[in-house]
Amino acid sequence: MPQRHKTQVCIIGAGPSGLLLSQLLAKTGIHTIVLDRKDRAYIEGRVRAGVLEQGTVDALEQAGVAERLHAEGLTHDGFELAFDGVRHRIDLKALTGSAVVVYGQTEVTKDLFDARFADNQQFFFNIDDVVPTELKSDQPQVHFTQDGAQHVITCDYIAGCDGFRGVSRAAIPNDVLKTFERVYPFGWLGILVDQPPVSHELIYANHAHGFALASMRSETRSRYYIQCEATDCVSDWSDDRFWEEFATRLGPDAAANLQTGASFEKSIAPLRSFVAEPMRYGNLFLAGDAAHIVPPTGAKGLNLAVADIRLLSRALIEHYAGNDHYIDTYSETALNRVWKVERFSWQLSTLMHQFPENSPFERRMQRAEFDYITESEAASKAIAENYIGLPLE
Ligand code: APR
Ligand code: PHB
Repeated sequence: MPQRHKTQVCIIGAGPSGLLLSQLLAKTGIHTIVLDRKDRAYIEGRVRAGVLEQGTVDALEQAGVAERLHAEGLTHDGFELAFDGVRHRIDLKALTGSAVVVYGQTEVTKDLFDARFADNQQFFFNIDDVVPTELKSDQPQVHFTQDGAQHVITCDYIAGCDGFRGVSRAAIPNDVLKTFERVYPFGWLGILVDQPPVSHELIYANHAHGFALASMRSETRSRYYIQCEATDCVSDWSDDRFWEEFATRLGPDAAANLQTGASFEKSIAPLRSFVAEPMRYGNLFLAGDAAHIVPPTGAKGLNLAVADIRLLSRALIEHYAGNDHYIDTYSETALNRVWKVERFSWQLSTLMHQFPENSPFERRMQRAEFDYITESEAASKAIAENYIGLPLE
């Protein structure tokens, strides 16, 4: 006989999306149960991106988890695009009046977990066989097992925050769900190194050998990436090989300040653009990576997830206050913004990477677009307003 539980909103996934949703709903007295197939230590150990839009900072402030972010985050008023060593700064502050904050997603996740545990959030970790059912009923259920015991949660709504490989999206019938995907013909090899960043701002570089990105986690910890073959393994890339290639792609001017050292984290991530429609089916809502994936070039993965949660938390809070307008329009409103952010991430990825199928003509088109951006304030502003984050709706 399964153990039975009841809640208002059952959240599948304790990544940034699920944690932020539970925090925002808890602040208005809405009860949630949060499920994850992993545990807190594993989830906090995942290395992810680290550039926050102002909208994300606002959401974390609203959630009451921005204290460390304000103390440790690095405000960046601009970033650089480089093309074969020629550098152009996108002055976010001058072009948009706004900026971004560099603060690792790992830290955001830790801050959210701290807040949820302090609030005695009901979690189920290390679970298996999660199955959302009765999605069209007013009492949907989520079945799962933990340590061999069967459980069933009855709720008003299910929030599918279980990422790209979760079960929530798959619970939407195939004759309803539409998906759109572009898999890029390369990956990103990323390292963490305890050395001061090569520049005080991020540098995105397009070089004949491939893309490189100089980022950071703090003033003493750098996060660097280079484009690699989709089939590469971490073992193919010694630190020495990485440093030589990274310096080449940044160009001599930027690389002059490069301080190398032993990496303590090295991983390869694939790149894809992906969108699932709709983001609601009955009383199941999708948010974050469960609904969409962006290539990391535009630093939008976490920010897009947070934007979904800002819309979904408002929809649920308003529903319980008697107003169903936002819950009825959630999928349409969220997808309208998702597609625009997918476009920006795809555009910057197309501009900055070496594509094996590209002819010399396409490479000249990349250089012409770079030159246009450097010479046109309007073109630079278009990049800047997407980078700092589009309006929520
Ligand atoms: N049952 C329970 N939990 C699951 C299941 C499942 N079947 N499948 C996945 N999960 C959990 C994962 O263990 C993970 O902790 O769902 C969580 C999903 O978290 P993320 O993948 O981080 O997705 P999201 O919270 O939307 O955050 C998006 O995280 O991965 C980055 O680049 C991404 O920055 C973006 C952000
Ligand atoms: C990172 O710091 O990990 C990072 C920054 C910007 C990106 C992608 C990743 O576009």
